[in-house]
This record gives sequence, C-alpha cells and structure tokens, in this order.
Amino acid sequence: MTGLLHPDLLRGRNVFVSGGGSGVNLAIARECAAVGANIAICGRTEAKLQAAVRELAEYGVKTSYAVADVRDEAAVAAAFDHAATEIGPMDGIVCGAAGNFLAPAQKISTNGFRAVTDIDLLGSFHCAKAGFEQVKQTGGALLFVSGGQSRMPFLHQAHVSAAKAGVDQLMRTLALEWGPLGIRSNSLVPGPVEGTEGMRRLTETADGDVWEGMVPLGRFARQDEVGRMAAVLLSPIASFVNGARIVVDGGMAMSGSAG
Ligand code: HXC
Repeated sequence: MTGLLHPDLLRGRNVFVSGGGSGVNLAIARECAAVGANIAICGRTEAKLQAAVRELAEYGVKTSYAVADVRDEAAVAAAFDHAATEIGPMDGIVCGAAGNFLAPAQKISTNGFRAVTDIDLLGSFHCAKAGFEQVKQTGGALLFVSGGQSRMPFLHQAHVSAAKAGVDQLMRTLALEWGPLGIRSNSLVPGPVEGTEGMRRLTETADGDVWEGMVPLGRFARQDEVGRMAAVLLSPIASFVNGARIVVDGGMAMSGSAG
C-alpha cells in the first residue's frame, strides 16, 4: 500500500541497509526510497544487490551497492566508504542482515551458532561502528532489525534468540551512549512477514496456519507494513524515539510465543 506517508518524508536523506538485497531489508529500502531516500545496500550476493538497486532506482532516488559480508569488519567499513562517496554521508543505518535456520539446540554446531550470532549480532555492531562518523555528522538514526525471539524464545531458535537479544541490548546501549551526540537508536521487531526467506525457513516444519493462528490479526504482515514503520522510525516523525523496541507483529507478542 503506497501513499500513506508524505512522499518527501525522507527526501534527500541517505539510508544504508545491510542485507538490503532481499526480504524484509529490501522492503525497508523500498519504503524509504518511496518517500525520497537515497539508498545504499550491502549483502553477500552481487546479483541480488544489482536487481535490488535496479528496482529501487525506479523511485527516482540515488542508489549504491557494495558486496560485503557483515561478518567482515573491513568489508563493512569499505561499504560505508563507498556509499558515502557515491551518495553522501548516511542519515539512517538499518542493521538488517541476518541468518537463520531451525535446529534443536543440541544439534547446533559451534560453527552454526557462531554463523548466526556473527551475522546478526557482530554484523550489526560492525555496521553501527562503521557508520558512526557518518550519522554523527548528519544527526542520523540507527535501526536494528530484531525479532520476537529476542524476548520470548522460539523452539529450535537458540542461536537466533541469543543473537537477537544481544541486538536489542546493543541498540539500547548505543541509544544511551550516542543519544547525547544526536544519534537515535531503535529496534524494529517484525513478526511473521509474508514472502520472506525467514518465514520460508521458519514454516518449513509447520504449516502457515499454525503461525497465522498465533497472530491476533490472523495473517502475516505484508512487507510494506514492516518497511513503512522503518521509514517512520528513521524520519523526523520519530525525532524523540530513542532506545525503543517497536513491535510490528499483528499482536503476536501477546500469544506468548514471541514479543
Ligand atoms: C543445522 C546448520 C543448518 C541447519 C547451516 N548449518 N544450516 N546446522 N541445521 N539447517 C550450520 C552448518 O552445518 C555449519 O556448521 C554452519 O551452520 C555454517 O554454515 P555455512 O552454510 O557454512 O555458513 P554460511 O554460508 O555463512 O551461512 C550462514 C547461515 C545460512 C546462517 C547458516 O543459513 C545463511 O547464510 N542464511 C542467510 C539467509 C537467511 O538465513 N535468511 C533468513 C533470515 S530471517 P558446521 O559445523 O557444519 O561447519 C531471520 C529472522 C527470522 O533471521 C525471524 C522471523 C520471526
């Protein structure tokens, strides 16, 4: 659904989205571009990034991409340098890159646990740190893409639950440390979102009806519903929102399964 936000809400602002080549992160990039933001994305797969920037450029905004695995601090730093050179310093940073698979805790190898925590938590730290000077200059905002698992554990999500809890606490610490510098930090907490790789993975052992039954609104979120809230949180509408965990899950948190 387009047209709900002012078309110039983020006009001329620059937003960096890690993992922006697909899924919820691309939806965030799309909704920011739809209200005028120039977008820089990074990710591991160049073909996905190229397709994403082609799509985003249709909004008439500047776009840029860099191939970078968020686990690689130097690659992330280079991606931010590249983005600043191409479109200018960032006003918004979305720490969105994430990895996930379902497995009982006793079956998760050290490497598997580390892969997810390194992507979700360390990767978020790398992006925040690499973008710090840019958002300090612009008085910008950070947005961490968290998950319901950060508060309520999900079965077979020990690695993700631990990582996302860390992401939220990283966000709160930065809200405290960087707030006085004029940098806001918040978490966006999506519930199930239709058409995403994350939900494909989480629903492969249970049919969609089980998940929909846990959402009081009775359905998964559309991607634009999540992306739009991200655009709002990065915008001046949220100028006094700092250190907050904004849940966009149709009420699923109340089911006791997430939140
Ligand atoms: C058990 C698994 C596994 C599985 C991988 N591993 N998949 N273990 N069950 N299904 C283990 C591997 O065996 C290996 O351990 C270790 O994890 C690393 O795997 P690699 O494939 O070598 O690593 P890598 O290529 O870095 O992949 C990282 C990944 C992968 C996270 C494991 O799934 C990935 O790249 N995902 C990105 C896409 C994605 O997950 N999108 C969904 C995000 S949604 P060993 O010991 O064998 O070496 C999301 C939020 C959802 O996160 C929230 C919804 C509410």
